Amino acid sequence: TDHRIARISSAIRVIPNFPKPGILFQDITTLLLDPKAFKDTIDLFVERYKDKEISVVAGIEARGFIFGPPIALAIGAKFVPMRKPKKLPGEVISEEYSLEYGTDKIEMHVGAVEPGERALIIDDLIATGGTLCAAIRLLERVGVKVVECACVIELPELEGRKRLGDKPLFVLVEAADQI
Ligand code: PRP
Ligand code: MG
Repeated sequence: TDHRIARISSAIRVIPNFPKPGILFQDITTLLLDPKAFKDTIDLFVERYKDKEISVVAGIEARGFIFGPPIALAIGAKFVPMRKPKKLPGEVISEEYSLEYGTDKIEMHVGAVEPGERALIIDDLIATGGTLCAAIRLLERVGVKVVECACVIELPELEGRKRLGDKPLFVLVEAADQI
């Protein structure tokens, strides 16, 4: 496992001052360019979740859409997209979350999941944890059990993990959020 984590970590490109001065951006597009590292990423999640009776993998737009579907296929779960506002055509439920300035929303189709289902939430990265918290609220509102949240990268200094409370969070790589 350690060599796989090392490969994943070194395939993530870190770009200073994007999208704004002082932000150290964790770029997973370079991980996707390395088929071994990308496969290791998916495999590590699949190994962890294959026997956890998960029926729903919920992926968060946009970067959660890259990692969620291959995991869902491998563990035999459905994939449910959690989208930015006004993208889904059917009836939706939505949850707001706060950004540095203002708020944003994510939405899920009504009927995509049923009460009693067991979900895994996937995103590329946890920073403040606001996005994952909104995803948890969406699923819990409709009676779904959130088994765990999983991300490729955590920025531990932002303490998003605390914001998730007692909800388990699994990550592959811890990264610094400042130079
Ligand atoms: C980024 C990242 C996570 C979220 C984490 O997404 O992909 O989804 O921020 O931040 P938080 O823990 O502070 O909520 P972003 O909304 O920038 O856009 P994208 O995934 O659509 O590129
Ligand atoms: Mg995102």
